[in-house]
Amino acid sequence: MGEERLQKIISQAGIASRRAAEKMILEGRVAVDGQCVRELGTKVNPAEHAIVVDGKVITQQEHHVYLLLNKPKGCLSTAKDDRGRRTVLDLLPEVRERVYPVGRLDNNTEGLLLITNDGELMNGLLHPRFEVEKTYHARVTGRLTQAKLAKLRQGVMLEDGMTAPAKVRELPEVEQGERSKGIFRVEITIHEGRNRQVRRMFAAVGCDVKALKRVRFAQLTLIGVPRGHHRVLTDEEINMLYRLAGLTK
Ligand code: URA
Repeated sequence: MGEERLQKIISQAGIASRRAAEKMILEGRVAVDGQCVRELGTKVNPAEHAIVVDGKVITQQEHHVYLLLNKPKGCLSTAKDDRGRRTVLDLLPEVRERVYPVGRLDNNTEGLLLITNDGELMNGLLHPRFEVEKTYHARVTGRLTQAKLAKLRQGVMLEDGMTAPAKVRELPEVEQGERSKGIFRVEITIHEGRNRQVRRMFAAVGCDVKALKRVRFAQLTLIGVPRGHHRVLTDEEINMLYRLAGLTK
């Protein structure tokens, strides 16, 4: 890798967005080879110079990895667990880079999870401003009326405020007679990423989520990726995610 603007290097290391990195530089929190740098245009070759932010050396990872994992239930979507429970990284033993999941899926939720070591892309995709759509299939119990579906679409009040409008539709039964037993299948698309949001949204309308699966993230789906398996994203898919996150490659 050649010379890059300092703010780009800092954001690619996953420390902050480019804008926040610019602020850090202006505030005098960034040093190159021991010299404080406050010039925003400064270009540096990270392979040749020691870049320090808030007193910590930031190491540039040269090789970016972008994976789409079909997370099974019963594994945590954190990089590490201090109680030694199974994490999504245990499903990727051959990946040597220090990768992280883009956002979280609950332990009990399965489905599409992006994994990368591209901190800048991760920050961009998680930023609420870019409104990346995520689609879930839920199996719920509790009487699911048209009025409840309409409420979910409009937004419901949660502890942390109203949810943004969502796309919601009831799906056909998987087994005959489910509905008469009070089991409903729902597809819900949201673009926020609050903690346990889908489960809390259904709880707010009196339904209980019994199973939850993320089936789509932006245009990416689980097609061709069995549960517990993963695939590498194509260049086209990576470029699409960059555009969505408001970044240029
Ligand atoms: N909403 C939830 O409730 N859980 C998830 O894992 C993801 C979205």
